[in-house]
Amino acid sequence: GSTTLVLGLEDLAYPLAVELCYRVFDDADVLERWARIANTGDTPVVLRQALSANLWMPREPSWRLRYLQGGWGSENQITETVLRPGRFILESRRGTTSHQTSPWFALDRRGEATEEHGDVFSGSLAWSGSWKIVLETTPGGRVHASGGLNDFDAPIVLRPGTDVVLPVMACLYSNGGHGGSSRAWHASQLSHVLSRSARDGRSPSFPGTNGPRRPESARAVSLAVADASTAGDPAGTAQPSYPPLRPVLYNSWEATWFSVDEPGQTRLAELAAEMGVELFVVDDGWFTGRRDDHAALGDWVVDTEKFPDGLAPLVATVKGLGMGFGIWVEPEMTTPDSDLYRAHPDWVLHFANRNRTERRNQLVLNLARDDVAGWVFATLDRLLTEHEIEFVKWDMNRHLSEPGWPAETGHNPERVWLDYTRNLYAVLDGLRAAHPDVDIESCSGGGGRIDLGMLSRTEQVWTSDNTDALDRIAIQEGFSQAWPAQAMMAWVTDSPNPLTRRRLPLSFRFHVAMAGSLGIGGDLAEWSHEERTEARDLVALYKKIRPTVQHGRLYRLASTRQGPLGAVEYLGPGGYDVVVIAFSGPRPLRPWPSRIRLAGLDEAATYRDCDSGAETSGAVLTHLGLELPTALDATSMLVRLERL
Ligand code: DGJ
Repeated sequence: GSTTLVLGLEDLAYPLAVELCYRVFDDADVLERWARIANTGDTPVVLRQALSANLWMPREPSWRLRYLQGGWGSENQITETVLRPGRFILESRRGTTSHQTSPWFALDRRGEATEEHGDVFSGSLAWSGSWKIVLETTPGGRVHASGGLNDFDAPIVLRPGTDVVLPVMACLYSNGGHGGSSRAWHASQLSHVLSRSARDGRSPSFPGTNGPRRPESARAVSLAVADASTAGDPAGTAQPSYPPLRPVLYNSWEATWFSVDEPGQTRLAELAAEMGVELFVVDDGWFTGRRDDHAALGDWVVDTEKFPDGLAPLVATVKGLGMGFGIWVEPEMTTPDSDLYRAHPDWVLHFANRNRTERRNQLVLNLARDDVAGWVFATLDRLLTEHEIEFVKWDMNRHLSEPGWPAETGHNPERVWLDYTRNLYAVLDGLRAAHPDVDIESCSGGGGRIDLGMLSRTEQVWTSDNTDALDRIAIQEGFSQAWPAQAMMAWVTDSPNPLTRRRLPLSFRFHVAMAGSLGIGGDLAEWSHEERTEARDLVALYKKIRPTVQHGRLYRLASTRQGPLGAVEYLGPGGYDVVVIAFSGPRPLRPWPSRIRLAGLDEAATYRDCDSGAETSGAVLTHLGLELPTALDATSMLVRLERL
């Protein structure tokens, strides 16, 4: 269960009421803070800046900041800096979360925290539009962190009698170092954030600013409001129960690019099914006129040249093979060469007197317009109603550049920054309500839209368009700081990798992807019989470790940021199942550790290797460690242990 405290405040000089809202959970270490600001007067009020929360850190001589930055194909790189007097700003002004910086941070005293020890204060924003986190060291040496909506070019006009609910900033303290902090984030997202947790009635999704969790009344006193989620469990004693395990998926993108058609997809589906894939996803290229990235976004009608009888025969084949069927869409976009744009050139974000800058040949629909959002909902609702679709990959391949809304000139067109994301959430929430069994993946040219707001409306995210397993090690380590393995979609793709041309062994590619939610994204028709057989065995192995990886606790045993070896351990619920995955890149010249020490084990217990049967005590595994193979180029290892 959870409890929400609402403090109602009134401005002494202006007709402005504020509710400061704090929510805590019985089974998670997260404290959520958000606010509602209401205009109770009879003239408009302009909000120029209103952040969601501000955290004062304990007084210390210095604080180290850890944050996640990068770009397309290199998301979530762990970066650290010691805060100095002045302000350090993490932000996106791109209208969406961004590849460049994640709305997450962690602070530790004097830079002393290690992976498993020390105080870590962390924060994360539930917002998928432009956002801002300010880390300030005052002239007096105090550090504070505040975060919320980005105020750049974004005044919010509150007309009389209206209000705005600011996004949630979730905050977390751990004295278990960065590892303890990450595990607490993972557990709270599995219990309370990921869409299936929310839909099972345990927790509402984060408000899309004016969202459903708004308290009914504000009073100038503090009052504790029990959420509906405590109703059946007043004492809050229920064990956390996590969302269902994610299926192993196949995605056609790197196999066929835009050249999808019924025979090609059918062949891939047959090969995927033989390997044990559970969900088959057709990526970009299935709709009319989509031969490359120059045309057709917005024309969401099945291309009858590629699928003469529509999608139904392929869907039937996929289901006949025992898999679910999924499809790619990019609903917020259009291309100038499309029927949608020809009919509604005014539907895109633009300024009347400026060029409409294209990126990947596409323009952004003004989702802040209710008619556009209504059209997006109706289009997707029809697609999901007419076809037996179980999974949607929701993509967004460019950011907002000219955020103009000419029809609203003089009426606060800058609210586009807020209303775009509000309406995105409304469309997603509406689709979830209308099609509760459809799962959604948040993708944005890879990992460009990963945040608590999206996680509360989806089942998983696409981690990066960079599927090179060696590059993925760093991307995944960064991802794991803030987000759980269950949500981290990771494909095994071809060798050489299409992006980096790097060749890596199939087992290495699998082992890295098996540290998250496993997918396959290679051109299976080009894989040899031996490769497909090996892949089938590795998929079967993944299904054995999946509950441990997706519901377990993550210990990052070794980082490739510090040496040649990277290693993660997952400890399953109850501590009975242990999975260790270790990998190294190019053969190290430096001495290679012969063992890796495990974490979180019961030292008095005995653990059996599920493959060799060898039995080892928890004390030995904790203090001496598990034996590693000799490191050659791209060495990897996966070990399963069970506690006897
Ligand atoms: C970007 C995504 O990240 C890819 O996986 C793929 O879906 C392409 N878009 C399709 O255009």
